[in-house]
Amino acid sequence: MLAKDILIDQARAVRERAYAPYSHFQVGACIESKNGNVYVGCNVENASYGLTVCAEANAIAAMVAGGEHEIVQMVVVIEGPGVSSCCGACRQRLNEFTDPEALIHFCDLVGNVKTLQFQDLFPYPFGPQDLSKRVITS
Ligand code: THU
Repeated sequence: MLAKDILIDQARAVRERAYAPYSHFQVGACIESKNGNVYVGCNVENASYGLTVCAEANAIAAMVAGGEHEIVQMVVVIEGPGVSSCCGACRQRLNEFTDPEALIHFCDLVGNVKTLQFQDLFPYPFGPQDLSKRVITS
């Protein structure tokens, strides 16, 4: 597993490219995949506010476009001071690709870091295993 500082540097860099003219809340995310590759994303807002896409969602999309589906750790950076968390929709998105033991690091620009296992960030998730409980009748 890569040192988290490598991911923090990448997340800070991509955060600078966030398009956030409405909230002025810039977010950068950096994923390390199971193969040791790094994928980044920033939030991209829209004048039609509901179309905003979170940094985590864009990093996940980059990973999938890179042909990978397994996250071993992720960093999320905001300006701070003080770390943020991850919205509920992005927890569900992460659940698709993240083991319960994967590490999620929430960081700011002045060195604060809060690290959680994914299972503590998103307990009792809905996931692919639930869909296997379907009864298909036709
Ligand atoms: N945002 C993220 O990028 N990730 C999150 O987990 C929470 C919120 C973005 C969306 C929006 O552009 C701005 O932060 C304020 O909500």
